[in-house]
Amino acid sequence: MGQVHVMDHPLIQHKLTIIRDKATGTKVFREVADEIAMLMAYEITRDLELEDTMVETPVVTAKAKTLSGKKLGVVPILRAGLGMVEGVVNMIPAAKVGHIGMYRDETTFEPVEYFIKMPSDISERTLIVVDPMLATGGSAILAMDALKKRGATNIKFMCMVAAPEGVKALQEKHPDVDIYIAALDEGLNEDGYIVPGLGDAGDRLFGTK
Ligand code: URA
Repeated sequence: MGQVHVMDHPLIQHKLTIIRDKATGTKVFREVADEIAMLMAYEITRDLELEDTMVETPVVTAKAKTLSGKKLGVVPILRAGLGMVEGVVNMIPAAKVGHIGMYRDETTFEPVEYFIKMPSDISERTLIVVDPMLATGGSAILAMDALKKRGATNIKFMCMVAAPEGVKALQEKHPDVDIYIAALDEGLNEDGYIVPGLGDAGDRLFGTK
C-alpha cells in the first residue's frame, strides 16, 4: 500500500492557512502556493541517493557528497497543477516537466484525458505528479494510469490538501504510489469540494471564476 506522508512542517502549515483564507487574493495565493510547493519538494526529495565526490575548497581537497544523478520529472495535472511546478523546479532545476491535461465529462462526471506530453525517457525517471487538491482521486488515478501505460514505474504524488476519500481511492488503485500531502482534511461536500479546503485551486491560482 502506498504510504501517506503528511508534511506538517510549521512553515508549510502556516503558508497553507494563508491560502485557505478566502480573503487571500490571486497574487498572494500564487506566490504562497509556490513557496509551499518548494518546501514540499525539499521534503519529498529527502531520500534522493548521494554518491561520494571530491571537492577542492579554498583550503584543501576534501571528500564530499553529490546527488547520484537519478533523473527526476515533474508532472502537473492541468490546470491547477501548474501552480506547483515553479516551486518544485526551483528546488530541482534538472527536473524535466511533463504535462497531463484532464477535463471532467459533464454527463458522467468522470475525468477524461485530453493532453499528455512527457519526457521521452519517462521509464528512467522518478516522476513527481503534482496537483494542489486530491478530492475524489479520479484525476490522480487517471494520471497514474496514463503514465504507467507510457512506461513510468516510479511515481510519487504530491498535493497540498487531500480528502480521505481521494487518498483511499488512489491507494487502492495505485498501491505503489506514495502520497505526499500538506494536510488531510475532513472530507468532500455535496458539490465535490474539499472541506475545509481552499475552494477551487485553479480559479484561485488564475483569477478565474
Ligand atoms: N478541486 C479543487 O480545486 N478544490 C476542491 O475543493 C476539490 C477539487
